[in-house]
Amino acid sequence: MNLIKFKNITKINHLNIIKYSFFFKKRRKFNPFLKKNIGIFFKLPSTRTKISFEIACKELGCNTIIIDEEKTQIKRGEDVKDTIKMLSIYLDLLIFRCKNNKEMEIYKKYINIPLINALTKNSHPTQIINDIFTIYEKKGNIKNKTILWIGKNNNVFKSLYEASKIFKFKIKKIHKYNKKTIKNLYKNCDVIMTDTWVSMGEKKVKCKLKIEKKYLKMANKNFIIMHCLPMYRNKEINEQILEMKNCIIWKQAKNKLFTSKAIIYFFLL
Ligand code: CP
Repeated sequence: MNLIKFKNITKINHLNIIKYSFFFKKRRKFNPFLKKNIGIFFKLPSTRTKISFEIACKELGCNTIIIDEEKTQIKRGEDVKDTIKMLSIYLDLLIFRCKNNKEMEIYKKYINIPLINALTKNSHPTQIINDIFTIYEKKGNIKNKTILWIGKNNNVFKSLYEASKIFKFKIKKIHKYNKKTIKNLYKNCDVIMTDTWVSMGEKKVKCKLKIEKKYLKMANKNFIIMHCLPMYRNKEINEQILEMKNCIIWKQAKNKLFTSKAIIYFFLL
């Protein structure tokens, strides 16, 4: 089984991953995989996903192999299918980040160990697994909750949308700035989620999408503000909002330590 898209996993299995995340949050020292070898191959920058997966592997007792494409024979023209074959022989699981969805599909086609998509242009399933866990932790459940998404129709949003179908929560979205309609969308929201305007590998864009502090009072009591990071301060989110108690972005980011472990545990069990 692979995790290329959020919807590749059934609800029961997602609930298992949430259960494991709670377990690993309570029990940091549990290293059941002393003989497992995990490849971590990131072709794009990463702070949270890569580091949390590296720590997760180490704490689970796995051996981690950081793959730098520049230092592989792919750079000298080895057919990527042959490289994938070798990765399948040497490793027990591969965590892979690349921009191109087709490249992820090629890895999926030829690999015969679990493949975890750590972000492509079209999806970011491990982020949304983390965010769903964080909402469970803060709200007790996610069913029938309303999430207001303020951002582009990007990889994180696409995975969030898949999650909404599985977990039965409502999404209101602001993909384009429209002063007249935005205000009403804050009404009855439990979670306000935003993301950077510029996805990795994209050109800088002019954009006005941001969390509007003046409308937050219209959201439900105890609403939370989330951002998967990296953020651009005073663009999609301003510093006053970061200081609000409702803003849980650092807790959300810390949870990647536990959800990364839970994902590896699920696939190696
Ligand atoms: N949210 C997220 O994927 O962060 P990184 O790009 O730092 O991994």
